[in-house]
Amino acid sequence: MNKVLLHCRPGFEKECAAEIQDRAAELEVYGYPRLERDSGFVLFECYQEGDAERLIQTLPLAHLIFARSWFAVLAELSEMDPADRVASVLAHSDALPKCGKLWVESGDGDAYRSLLTFCRKFTVPLRQALRQAGLLTKTEKEQMPRMHLFLTDNQNGYLGYSRSDNGAAHFMGIERLKFPSEAPSRSTLKLDEAINLFLTPEQQASRMQSGMWAVDLGACPGGWTYQLVRRGLFVHAVDNGPMADSLMESGQVTHHMADGFKFEPPRKNVTWLVCDMVEKPDRVAQLMAAWLVRGWASQAIFNLKLPMKQRYVSVYESLNLLTEILHSAGVEFELQAKHLYHDREEITVYLHRRR
Ligand SMILES: C[S@@+](CC[C@H](N)C(=O)[O-])C[C@H]1O[C@@H](n2cnc3c(N)ncnc32)[C@H](O)[C@@H]1O
Repeated sequence: MNKVLLHCRPGFEKECAAEIQDRAAELEVYGYPRLERDSGFVLFECYQEGDAERLIQTLPLAHLIFARSWFAVLAELSEMDPADRVASVLAHSDALPKCGKLWVESGDGDAYRSLLTFCRKFTVPLRQALRQAGLLTKTEKEQMPRMHLFLTDNQNGYLGYSRSDNGAAHFMGIERLKFPSEAPSRSTLKLDEAINLFLTPEQQASRMQSGMWAVDLGACPGGWTYQLVRRGLFVHAVDNGPMADSLMESGQVTHHMADGFKFEPPRKNVTWLVCDMVEKPDRVAQLMAAWLVRGWASQAIFNLKLPMKQRYVSVYESLNLLTEILHSAGVEFELQAKHLYHDREEITVYLHRRR
């Protein structure tokens, strides 16, 4: 077996495949992707023995925008005996490293709903058998490899592992967040997910502190502003539309009915810039770069909307444009981008200006 299985949002397999092929080639790992439209996963088959494991070790998962989670495939399970699927998994025990956690998973989306129910049920006897066989620790250990069994139906699938230091933090790379009933829009979950993904708890404590100022461009009705207010920040909310009364009553929000492309912060005390305006991605990328170059903000989280076609190319063009502007202005920065679970036709970017 010399494959990596990557999870992505169903419908984005082409982007996920193009990206893994390009990023792997940069590390001189060559191979070809196999995909099925709307399946929610891609298999990247490496040519050289050992390259799948090398890839999940050397390529940071955080550098992939369209992959939510991944693992190196060690065995393909086909036509498992429905009377004893556990035995089919245990038959490959020689190939598996000892793991600290087991994830029996599948694709995301409605088509997989009943299969995911099966995955959940099957996890219980499989976990028990793996523990008895010494392949899984008695209690879950976060710092050890994670065993993945990805089922394509209830008799077929792929078995492998991911590294705890370079793998998804959540089952299938999806952070399940509860919608806060007081939030004015569902897009609040996008910013919540982005903050949790891009910033470690320690970074959240130091980089997003209560009392800091933020600017929210395209803020109405206030789902993103809500996340900032909840964390104790003061917000300049910029939008011609109305903001939710509950947010205005917090005393932490100043509403500016203005164009986000022309707005200038009234004082030079802004740390955070967030932006969810529905606009051309290169325009947004240029705007975000301009704020960092001028020193109007030192950190930003923003969306880049995806076009109907050439989504992969368009994303990298916008990010390259952003990078070029910052480099030529001598700005040192850290950039991460992800197609979040709560994103649809957009990706989310985190930008941090280094001192
Ligand atoms: C997707 S909504 C934002 C939702 C918001 N983040 C939330 O969580 O509630 C996009 C918003 O961008 C605003 N918008 C679009 N172009 C804008 C511009 N040039 N200046 C300011 N706001 C703009 C729209 O009025 C709209 O309210």
